[in-house]
Amino acid sequence: MGQQRQLSAETRAVIEELVPEAAKARRVFIFTGAGVSAESGIPTFRDAQTGLWAKYDPVMLASIDGFRKDPANVWKWYDERRQTMSQCMPNAGHTAITEWQRMLAPVQGRLDLATQNIDDLHRIAGTEQLIELHGNIWEVRPLGAGFADAFRLMDCPLSEHPPRAADGSTLRPNVVWFGEMLDESVLNHAFHCAMKADLALSIGTSSLVYPAAALPFVAREHGATLVEINPERTELTAAADYVLQEPSALALPALVEGIRSILPGNPA
Ligand SMILES: NC(=O)c1ccc[n+]([C@@H]2O[C@H](COP(=O)([O-])OP(=O)(O)OC[C@H]3O[C@@H](n4cnc5c(N)ncnc54)[C@H](O)[C@@H]3O)[C@@H](O)[C@H]2O)c1
Repeated sequence: MGQQRQLSAETRAVIEELVPEAAKARRVFIFTGAGVSAESGIPTFRDAQTGLWAKYDPVMLASIDGFRKDPANVWKWYDERRQTMSQCMPNAGHTAITEWQRMLAPVQGRLDLATQNIDDLHRIAGTEQLIELHGNIWEVRPLGAGFADAFRLMDCPLSEHPPRAADGSTLRPNVVWFGEMLDESVLNHAFHCAMKADLALSIGTSSLVYPAAALPFVAREHGATLVEINPERTELTAAADYVLQEPSALALPALVEGIRSILPGNPA
């Protein structure tokens, strides 16, 4: 039997202090990383390179050079990750974000979510206004085409490696690889939302991968109160106004329940 997990007394005290301020926020910006999906069973990038794949250089599995050299092998790795992800469900952290977004509607508030994750779990959990900074593993685009040409390819497992478009051209995953630029309009939109926020949360990210990692800092510089949720300290921790050093699937539901209890128009 799994042990029932509890928030530490310290975290409960931080949440108690944070809730009245969070309930006042009408522009919320959330930035998430791989840690949010860890409790759904999705390995982090480094964890994903275990077993058969451990012998491969991560850059060869996630770069345009690696893809050009061996598209079949890169696609076998992505196909395996797609199969793993297809078995995973959103966790209580994903769901709490969706609930908070819905709770803000009656008070004319707004919650924007920018994620570095490519796993689709925020969308499956029902979050809207989702900004996918690093693409989506269920989307593909022709090699050489831009983000605007991406489309969903849900076959799982894939019938061929690499998959091909109707005209026979090679398809690549619509994700941002090492050394590639993010979609400019997507990134600009994320920065706009961060700058407008009166409350920003950075959740489950090591805050190391730029330019995305700049988002919470920019929100803070533009006046947002900054919250971090992560069991470990990160590059952002010292800049945060509130730190919840806990797994997101535990801390987020507690925070959102606290907000619900005082936000108008949201009966329990
Ligand atoms: N699920 C996914 O789609 C997925 C998975 C792996 C990697 N990636 C990609 O890899 C890059 C890595 O950057 P990153 O910062 O997202 O991930 P990261 O692996 O660098 O950091 C993960 C962070 O999550 C924290 N964490 C672990 N368990 C947690 C939990 N239960 N609750 C809250 N936090 C927890 C860790 O302490 C760490 O700081 C990103 O660009 C991302 O696109 C995506």
